This record gives sequence, C-alpha cells and structure tokens, in this order.
Amino acid sequence: MKGVILAGGTGTRLNPFTKVINKHLLPVGHYPMVYWSILKLASSGVKDILIIVNKNDLKDFKTVLGDGNYLGANIVYQIQSHAGGISHGLSYAKNFVKGKKFVLLLGDNIFEDSLTPYIGSFVKGNEEAKLLLKMVDDPERFGIATIDKNTSQITSIVEKSHNPPSNLCVTGIYMYNSDVFQHIENLKASNRGELEITDINNIYISKKKLSYEILKGWWIDAGTHDSLFRANQLVQSELNKLRIDNNE
Ligand code: G1P
Repeated sequence: MKGVILAGGTGTRLNPFTKVINKHLLPVGHYPMVYWSILKLASSGVKDILIIVNKNDLKDFKTVLGDGNYLGANIVYQIQSHAGGISHGLSYAKNFVKGKKFVLLLGDNIFEDSLTPYIGSFVKGNEEAKLLLKMVDDPERFGIATIDKNTSQITSIVEKSHNPPSNLCVTGIYMYNSDVFQHIENLKASNRGELEITDINNIYISKKKLSYEILKGWWIDAGTHDSLFRANQLVQSELNKLRIDNNE
C-alpha cells in the first residue's frame, strides 16, 4: 500500500503565517504539521509516500523532510499547479499509485487512531473506497455524511452545508482504488471552483462500493487558528507514545 499526502493549498485561514510559510510546515507540538501524517502512515507500514505541494513550497518541504528516511518513510514530491481542490491535488498521484489501492491523507488532519486496522480491512475487502468519520460540534465546516438507520450505509455526503444533516464529519483520511483517477477526470468544478472530494465519494456511494468506519480517538483539522491551537494541545499525548529519531 502506498500513501499520498496533500500539502498544497493556500491556507488563508491561517494568515498571516501562511503568507510566508506553507500551512503544513507550521508547528504542531515539536514538529511541523505534516510530520504527523507521515508518522501515521509509516507506523502502519505505508512507507512509500507522495507529498503533493505547491511549486513555491517544494524547496521548504525538501529542506524540512528530505527523503523521509529518518521518519521511516521514502518520500517523493509532486507539484500541484494551483489550489484546485482535493480531487485536483489527488489527480497528480495517478502514476505514483500504479493501479493499486492507496491511502490519501489531508496534511492538516491530525488524529489519534492507528491506521493499521482500517488499512488492513480495506486491503482485504471488496469495497473500492473507504472513509473514516468522526462526530464533530461544527459540521458546517466539513463534508458531512448521512447514514441509513436500517442498512447502516452512507447514503449521501454534503460539503460545508449551512444546514448539515448530521454531525458525522468525513475526515481527511480516505482510501481508494485506482478507479478514482478516472472519476476525477470526469468531474466538474463545484460552485467554489474546486474539484471536490465529496463529489468523488458520492460516486462511490452510488456504485455501492463505499465503506466507512468511525474513528475511536480524537481527530482534528488544524486549518484554523483555533483548531491549530487545539491540535498543539492534543499532540502532547501522542508525543509520549511515539519515539521519533529527529536530527534536530
Ligand atoms: C476538506 C473536505 C471536507 C472534509 C475536510 C476534513 O475540507 O472538503 O469534506 O470534511 O477536508 O478536514 P477543507 O478543510 O479542505 O475545506
């Protein structure tokens, strides 16, 4: 299994810092935000990782992360031409994943659970996509799932709705088969001008090929000032669990 981390975007919700540094390199605990995604993948056996970045930030990422060896990973990079949405960023991973199932992380998502059991069930299962969900207090900020009470299946996902149908957030931890790239090629931009990952997930729902699980531990999207502050508090517990050989 290979891993893809999206670390592009403009990060305007974290201005003024993001005027001079990419969001995913801002500190969370003792480390840059994106370390946490790399460590979650590597500790689940996903060592081959593609990080998708903005052209102007590539040098900074290489300076900070290098080839990822000291984090237990083999990191390669791909440049995203513009902030065109999550599906647009993901489209750059087509050659890297080479027709196999893979895991995609948004580099600003920080979470407690190990990915090992979720990846294991996805690799063995018949589903073509898998999502990890989490109950949140602010569903307007996220993609939100509706679950059918009888079948326990996701019936739809809405993106940043003013009237969200539930509090079950679709986190930025996704697993797909390689059909996803075909689906992205056929995708149209949303009203906000982006190729939405929610539209891709709704395609897998309509094919009845989407599974999900609910995260047990804490999860946070560190993309705002308030949530970045909270993320810094939450990772203190992770720091005690993980031993990182950092050449700081
Ligand atoms: C993105 C996705 C959204 C998801 C969220 C998780 O939103 O579009 O569906 O719930 O990540 O972090 P963004 O934070 O990029 O606006």
